[in-house]
Amino acid sequence: MALRSQLLRTVYNGSQARQFSEARKERAGVTKLREVLEDRLQDIKKAKTWKHERIITSPQDRKVTVQGAKGEFLNFCANNYLGLSNHPEVVEAAREGLKKYGAGLSSVRFICGTQSIHKDLENRIAEFHGREDAILYGSCFDANAGLFESMLTPEDAVFSDTLNHASIIDGIRLCKAQKFRYPHRDLNELEHLLAHSEARIKLIVTDGVFSMDGTVAPLKGLRTLADKYRALLAVDDSHATGFFGETGRGTEEYCGVPGAADIICSTLGKAVSGAAGGYTTGPRELVTLLRNVSRPYLFSNAPPPPVVAASLKSLELVDRSSELRQRLQDNTRAFREGLQSAGLTVSGDQHPICPVMVEAPLAVELASGMLERGIYVVAFSYPVVPKGAARVRVQLSAAHTPEDVKRAVDAFATVGKDIGLVK
Ligand SMILES: Cc1ncc(COP(=O)(O)O)c(C=O)c1O
Repeated sequence: MALRSQLLRTVYNGSQARQFSEARKERAGVTKLREVLEDRLQDIKKAKTWKHERIITSPQDRKVTVQGAKGEFLNFCANNYLGLSNHPEVVEAAREGLKKYGAGLSSVRFICGTQSIHKDLENRIAEFHGREDAILYGSCFDANAGLFESMLTPEDAVFSDTLNHASIIDGIRLCKAQKFRYPHRDLNELEHLLAHSEARIKLIVTDGVFSMDGTVAPLKGLRTLADKYRALLAVDDSHATGFFGETGRGTEEYCGVPGAADIICSTLGKAVSGAAGGYTTGPRELVTLLRNVSRPYLFSNAPPPPVVAASLKSLELVDRSSELRQRLQDNTRAFREGLQSAGLTVSGDQHPICPVMVEAPLAVELASGMLERGIYVVAFSYPVVPKGAARVRVQLSAAHTPEDVKRAVDAFATVGKDIGLVK
């Protein structure tokens, strides 16, 4: 009885919650913060860069339901390239991982956060890419944030494409190496920078595929320059791993230069399971160094077992058959050709990221018109993309049927006419 009343006393109830909020008087520091942030929020609104988040009430899939909207939407804006985010085998593997290994580790890797499946996945990733070793992170953002500071010192230099992902930019900011940026895919300018550098380690870093543009890095030329100037090449293959290239090995395979990268960083949050996680794979000594000094790895929890199990299953599916990759390629081709015959401009290379280019004021109108027709796509304009390069970014998936793709093409043609984009 005594124990029961003690337990009852420790239950947090509504009246205690009220007491907490009543006791919390506004403090001067918080009032100041509100004022400052209100100004900044207004600036974001004025700059028209406010992010409106739609709330999805279904699993991530070819079709989704959205809070406050009737019916289902065909989803053309996820990185669900292979359609594995809600694949029955992947979901089942995650469930099994949960049952066998629990919800999470309550620890970073080096204290007591490494389970056998973490090692299994790291070995599998290294084997998948044909590299010596691999290290897992909570995300690819973390992998990039933890790479440059760990491996480069002021004696070294890093050369980065201007359109590289934010996580590469931030990762480079954190390191003390000499920093150079070369114009997007400009090998001449890169060569000029490399030729004038006396740095000990020279590291060229590029996205394999650039996420806003669907453009592919010139890996062959980058490798040639790396060899000529004794440099290393690091590739972030987040928009390629698992589906780009004949066997899904990514941009190297697509460009016909397998093994071109010395270091690959990639994500487990896009084609491969779509859950979360990232990694770096490459020379054994580098991976060992990262395990010892890379801060996002050392000071952040181990990836949760269901997520690890889902990634293992996804890599198995990637290698089991080329069917999903073939479907994705067919969908990409049909969409690009369909839009071009409808008189719309799709930029980028033959990749499932398809930016439909429009004048800035029409980008939002185009995306809204598509949404009214049950197709979920997103508009991007300056400063997310350069001035004069507004677009609606479409992403194809292996989960889409040929009918889905046709529906999207027809809707683009109709809305394009409605808003005066095509004559
Ligand atoms: C090129 C690139 N690198 C890294 C990331 C970050 O991946 P993650 O979601 O695993 O942090 C993204 C995600 O948008 C990306 O496009």
